[in-house]
Amino acid sequence: MRIADLPKYELKPEENEKVDQIISKYKGKNGIVIPVLQEIQKSIGFVPIGVQKKIASKLNVPDKDVYGVATFYSFFSLIPRGKYNVRVCMGTACFVKGADKIVDKIQKELDIGPGQTTPDRKFSLQLNRCLGACGLAPIIVINDKVYQKIKPDEVMGIIYDHEKQSKG
Ligand code: FES
Repeated sequence: MRIADLPKYELKPEENEKVDQIISKYKGKNGIVIPVLQEIQKSIGFVPIGVQKKIASKLNVPDKDVYGVATFYSFFSLIPRGKYNVRVCMGTACFVKGADKIVDKIQKELDIGPGQTTPDRKFSLQLNRCLGACGLAPIIVINDKVYQKIKPDEVMGIIYDHEKQSKG
């Protein structure tokens, strides 16, 4: 996915507040692009394009300088982690038992690819190497909870049930 095609992730009010506080700390200082981005990444977990534009305009730095730094270093993420981070094991044991079909199901239903997050920031999809539980293949992990021996047709039910249970 091209950066221009990324969904517009809305910041929560408290995240907006944090971003504003951090930016105002750096007003009038030089060489601030990396530290301000680092602090925002640490505080809210990502540095979306909208935040980069805000940094550029409030701190009087060209847009392209902020963007260049944010996209150059791998520790800056332009995509937030979803509330439910779904990791699918793609290790050999899981793969031969249909992990790729599980990934297909999730991609189609949530309309996101690996490494992406839904626009409502609810679900992220990640592909993992062997998660060390091969006897239970194929497995997925949602946040810290492991689901084992799952079938592609069951995966979305498992994800939505997990969401319901987490809401209590
Ligand atoms: S291959 Fe999936 S847990 Fe080892």
